[in-house]
Amino acid sequence: MAYRLFEGKEHASIYQQYRFTPPTGLKDIIIQYLDKKKGQPHVLAVDLGCGTGQHTRLLAPHFKEVVGIDISECQLEEARSVPGFTNITYREGTAEELPFEDGTVDLLTAASAAHWFDQSRFLIEANRVLKPGGCMALLGFTDWYIKLNYKDCGDKLNCIYHEVGVD
Ligand SMILES: C[S@@+](CC[C@H](N)C(=O)[O-])C[C@H]1O[C@@H](n2cnc3c(N)ncnc32)[C@H](O)[C@@H]1O
Repeated sequence: MAYRLFEGKEHASIYQQYRFTPPTGLKDIIIQYLDKKKGQPHVLAVDLGCGTGQHTRLLAPHFKEVVGIDISECQLEEARSVPGFTNITYREGTAEELPFEDGTVDLLTAASAAHWFDQSRFLIEANRVLKPGGCMALLGFTDWYIKLNYKDCGDKLNCIYHEVGVD
């Protein structure tokens, strides 16, 4: 099941003001991993559940194009109000129905958001849109309880997610 929270204007404005940006060191690890697995060029990154765009903006220097997707138009309005990121676009939508052709996305990320998604539907979409060698990074700080379900590799995905978790 997907959840719909964080959608109000006031909530989005508080997010924009006080939400912290994920560490750049973490972003560097993600880009290095993508370099190793897929190689250059890095064309399209998609940040799911982008909120007010803190993590989306970190990706901008590394890709030709970055798209932030969120179900909340209020969050997106706040994200769009940050100037200076000409290669980022923000679109209203859900992680479970991505507006991209098959095999077109280099990197998919979700920062403190994947635990809200319908895991089965989202992972089917992720697998559909990613290029061969493309990567997905799910990051967060309190979402240790996430349970990923995908075909017969849910257990493996959950092991990886928990293995790299830092207490
Ligand atoms: C905890 S906030 C994180 C926002 C941002 N990534 C950050 O790190 O600040 C979770 C975001 O996911 C969005 N969201 C929740 N369910 C979603 C879904 N199914 N598809 C797309 N976005 C979703 C919410 O609207 C919210 O903006």
